[in-house]
Amino acid sequence: MEFSIKNTSAAKELSDCIIVGVYESHQLSVAAQAIDLASNGFISKVIERGDMDGKLEATLLLHDVPGLICERVQLVGLGKAEDFTEKQYCKAVKASVKALEKSGASHVTSFLAELPVKALGIRRKVAYLTEATLDATYKFDAIKRKEVKSAPKKAITQLTIHVELSSEKQQAEAGLSDAQALAAGVSLAKDLGNLPPNVCTPTYLATQALLLAKTYNFKVEVLEREALQKLGMGSFLGVSQGSEEPPKFIVMHYLKGKKQQKPVVLVGKGITFDTGGISLKPGSEMDEMKYDMCGAASVLGTFKAIAAMDLPLNVIGVIPTCENMPDGRAVRPGDVLTSMSGLTIEVLNTDAEGRLILCDALTYAERFEPSAVVDIATLTGACVIALGHHATGLFSNNDALAQELLQAGETALDRAWHMPMWDDYQPLLDSNFADMANIGGRAAGSITAACFLSRFAKKYHWAHLDIAGTAWKSGKEKGGTGRPVPLLTEFLVARANQSNS
Ligand code: BES
Ligand code: MN
Ligand code: ZN
Repeated sequence: MEFSIKNTSAAKELSDCIIVGVYESHQLSVAAQAIDLASNGFISKVIERGDMDGKLEATLLLHDVPGLICERVQLVGLGKAEDFTEKQYCKAVKASVKALEKSGASHVTSFLAELPVKALGIRRKVAYLTEATLDATYKFDAIKRKEVKSAPKKAITQLTIHVELSSEKQQAEAGLSDAQALAAGVSLAKDLGNLPPNVCTPTYLATQALLLAKTYNFKVEVLEREALQKLGMGSFLGVSQGSEEPPKFIVMHYLKGKKQQKPVVLVGKGITFDTGGISLKPGSEMDEMKYDMCGAASVLGTFKAIAAMDLPLNVIGVIPTCENMPDGRAVRPGDVLTSMSGLTIEVLNTDAEGRLILCDALTYAERFEPSAVVDIATLTGACVIALGHHATGLFSNNDALAQELLQAGETALDRAWHMPMWDDYQPLLDSNFADMANIGGRAAGSITAACFLSRFAKKYHWAHLDIAGTAWKSGKEKGGTGRPVPLLTEFLVARANQSNS
């Protein structure tokens, strides 16, 4: 989709469709008023007849409105003016583009960026609008047969975003390119998640990292089994040993900040398929365990976004990736693994494999003397029970870092919720035969998983994002969400602004 910024009048706009907002109080937005005036009260009449109640996400497509050059006008309900925040704004934008997908309009002009949204400036509003549009029009049909590709009648190919003042154009352009960079990252994360597990293997993820690095000119290393053995990553290798697919350990070096600036390290869980291993998962919905690499996908997506923005910051990405399969060589319940840190782990359940691959990656991260380490993982079903599908679970050994991430999530509309990680929970991981067990029992499952990781993250400020409930949707709308790429990107952008101010 092509985007442009323009400052024209609604009545004179020449495109296939113009989008204007209407509040629940029947109050018209500025552009809707202009159209109403040009059309001799046509819009007011439609509203009086009760065909558009202004409720949030309601849409109505009007044709051949008198007095206008444009063939179509789409009215979008905005809900109550006093409740109209970023969230409602994005919902209205999404409802509008979704409804237009079924129309014949391909060049569309949106007048929604003129709407007052709290005290937001034009840059943010254009960024939200662009991002919401690209999120809503995302399609995954890379592997459908050509003839059955879900082609809408006529997709929106051009979106012109109207700004009220020509002095706003520069800021609007900046918002547009921020959002396009972010959307490219979100879309990559969705694609990687959606790909089938026989395509998106550890090797495939490594190839994707190398491709990104080539496109944006940064360095990537891919460590193979032998190198991992030398490093002593017994825990990661233990998980991978039941699979025919070779494990990969991907390290991305995006170093575009000041030379002496300590890097932020992002660590992503990259289980490309989680059968549970010998502690085999039940069959129903097991296909969704292809999404168990969404932490890795979010790291790749975030790298794409910040690289497209050319963000001046030092960021390292670390992705341990393998499959968790049952096999004659697979790790058994009762096996003890020796992690890279030297700590030994009794594997009481082979399905708690995420923490086993992450702990070695966390130890590896020490070598970068990071300013912060954030791991991202579809780690526990328990997190879904605790928070559902709205918030990502956030755990941290540093409150300031936790606050930064929470704030980034609020700004990016990709929220996290701070969970406790008190020492009281640590004894649940006691083992009679090793330094720790890999599970802590049924109670507080997402917390004991975080407690396990915290034992390997003592040397730096660290946060853990459990995205088990937020990385993908199930059911009819099954698909990757690209979360938490918006949160992570916003977090890094804020860090870059800080370090350069
Ligand atoms: N990848 C799963 C977590 C998961 C399950 C995410 C379902 C989203 C939906 C993880 O590897 C896992 O299997 N965790 C176990 C841990 C348990 C054995 C302690 C879980 O949550 O059941
Ligand atoms: Mn598992
Ligand atoms: Zn898993």
